[in-house]
Amino acid sequence: MQRRFRPGSRAVWTSTIRKMTEAPVTQWWRDAVVYQVYPRSFQDTDGDGVGNLAGVTSRLEYLSWLGIDAVWLTPITASPDDDFGYDVSDYYSVQPVLGDLASVDRLIEAAGRCGIRVILDIVPNHTSDRHAWFKDARASRESEHRDWYVWARPSRHGSLPNNWLSVFGGPAWEHDPATGEFYLHQFLPSQPDLNWWNPQVRGEFDRILRFWFDRGVAGFRIDTANKVVKDSLLRDNPPVGPADHAMARRLGQRPARTSSQAEVHEIWRRWRAVCREYEPERMLVGETWLFDLNEVAGYYGADDELQLNFNFPFVYADFSAEALRRVVERTEAALGASRWPVWTASNHDVSRFPSRWCGGDSRLIRMGLTVLLTLRGTPFLYYGDELGMTDVDVPGDRIVDPLSRRMPGQHRGRDPERTPMLWRPGPGAGFTDPDVEPWLPLGDSQVNVEQQRDDRTSTLRLCRDLIALRRESPDLRTGGRLHEPGRARGGLDLPAGDQYCRRAELSG
Ligand code: GLC
Repeated sequence: MQRRFRPGSRAVWTSTIRKMTEAPVTQWWRDAVVYQVYPRSFQDTDGDGVGNLAGVTSRLEYLSWLGIDAVWLTPITASPDDDFGYDVSDYYSVQPVLGDLASVDRLIEAAGRCGIRVILDIVPNHTSDRHAWFKDARASRESEHRDWYVWARPSRHGSLPNNWLSVFGGPAWEHDPATGEFYLHQFLPSQPDLNWWNPQVRGEFDRILRFWFDRGVAGFRIDTANKVVKDSLLRDNPPVGPADHAMARRLGQRPARTSSQAEVHEIWRRWRAVCREYEPERMLVGETWLFDLNEVAGYYGADDELQLNFNFPFVYADFSAEALRRVVERTEAALGASRWPVWTASNHDVSRFPSRWCGGDSRLIRMGLTVLLTLRGTPFLYYGDELGMTDVDVPGDRIVDPLSRRMPGQHRGRDPERTPMLWRPGPGAGFTDPDVEPWLPLGDSQVNVEQQRDDRTSTLRLCRDLIALRRESPDLRTGGRLHEPGRARGGLDLPAGDQYCRRAELSG
């Protein structure tokens, strides 16, 4: 089924451009450099110390100048923010502090004029406990939405239904006194897991996908894509062995019953079919915290599941030529020629690579960017990577990440990598008004866009040059072996940003 779009929408516009360039639009993600934005921290336009969607729109000129092809926004849907958007209370509306549906539409429209696609984040594993579905589910055992979540009776001795543990510490079960059963939460107790064995849940998410795709959203990053389907018999997870990855060893159990169940692949095949209803096809990139690259490769299916899947073994590799070479080779071997690799070094859950890999040394940071942007595959930059932005020490009284509170002494929390973008020197750093306290403290604004943009020798200019070089050199994107001759602009159907994206067009 082909879907029709509103006049003036991005699809109409992209088909016009396609006629101009005659470039194939399929698989645009293979040639793209994607830029992850944490909207709360990118640009505040209303002086409340929190970034918003209008702020992202106001910075499109910069993103276009940088040369990126798509932005991925971490969740923008309504949420009580226990886990900053990863606890969704309504999949069809926008978190008020970030904007509203009209601001999403404006962003998509304006980004489209810059040749930039907008990718959103979707959280299918769990909702907020304040989502109407869960409120209904916990109201009684007979509620309409009861079976949308994973409920279990106490075990024979009145204790937990099984040994499953939450990634965020403690058991993965919370007792619900009103109905006398436990519900599953693989993350916070206020993030109850959905029951993906229920066909109504599957149907509802098809609707959610189409709701956003119809607005012109180019794809989704799928949160915790390996955990969505859980063992239907709720069997215990086995203990870890010495061969298990450090992450599993820290948890103390192998997630054999809570991760990568065979049936999870049905879901991604179903979602891919929805993506194929659209022209150009919508894109799915999975977040799977997996350390076996063959398992990572499994999520691509036979080109009928996710088009891209994040590569955490690369994220966590040591920053040495030898270690990186090994992980790149293992990735290439596991993925083969047909599955497309993703390279990323920082995100909102892991320490920024300029700190973690490079200890703040600008020469190493430049090397890190060079590695990221010259490998065959799709690089994902995290906002600030291009400047060499490092983690920020967040004082105890400013910590907001629930992880630090739930796992004191065990987890440093994720606030250090989520601090506001540094646009210019001085108070507010161009992120917010000078007299406003931002939601997380600012880093050292000596590292900033304004100064680096004017300095030919800066990290930012190196990053921009690498992106441009990549665009001009198909071999840098495809590694040579998959280069298809004659693909205009590497198969992108959008115009070069600089040419079309003018500041005046972006106002409003
Ligand atoms: C993913 C997100 C992380 C979130 C978790 C639970 O790992 O990236 O930020 O806390 O899922 O939704």
